Amino acid sequence: MKILLVDGTIIGRKTGAILEQVKGYIEDANPELELKILSLADFEHQFVDGRPLGEYNEDMQEMVRRFENADGYIIATPIFQGSIPGVLKNAFDMLHPRTMRYKPVSIVANGGTYQHHLVIENQLKPILDYFRCLVTPNYVYTHTSHFDETNSITNEDVHERLRELARVFVQYAEMSKHLSKETIDTP
Ligand SMILES: Cc1cc2nc3c(=O)[nH]c(=O)nc-3n(C[C@H](O)[C@H](O)[C@H](O)COP(=O)(O)O)c2cc1C
Repeated sequence: MKILLVDGTIIGRKTGAILEQVKGYIEDANPELELKILSLADFEHQFVDGRPLGEYNEDMQEMVRRFENADGYIIATPIFQGSIPGVLKNAFDMLHPRTMRYKPVSIVANGGTYQHHLVIENQLKPILDYFRCLVTPNYVYTHTSHFDETNSITNEDVHERLRELARVFVQYAEMSKHLSKETIDTP
């Protein structure tokens, strides 16, 4: 199975750092999964404006292809202005609503305030629910204080929660194997 680990920001380093950490824990939990990081910072973005897919630049088309070809996702996001970054929402807006249907998704996020973990509950999960993703019940929210100056995660509780997230994600990936294929053609 191909798992896309999406670094959902073009600013900052901590989101990518959490993603690298969770990638390692998923590899530990199931070495057979094919894990690829997609960093939005590597793409030249265009606003979704309703034109046909073929009229967007090659980067946008490549981004859509990589989402479509994946069997599951880890979505990593910072919190910006009490929400997800616009560039991540724009990436979701590029996708056909069936792209992520019945595929496993886990969320990792980081912010500068403790309270904004609720952005995951109130804003990101509803988008993934719209896509009918199999969102794991656990996600991991980190705060600036959980990192050292090199952006390594220093908090052992965060590591434990990331390992647990990886364990559950792998189970959801297994569960989704047949579900995705059987239902892909339904409206
Ligand atoms: C434009 C902008 C808006 C932000 N808004 C919030 C916010 O509303 N809530 C919050 O907890 N952190 C907010 N932050 C802090 C980021 O979430 C924080 O910079 C990031 O998680 C730390 O990672 P970094 O070192 O990779 O930037 C904001 C940061 C930026 C750049």
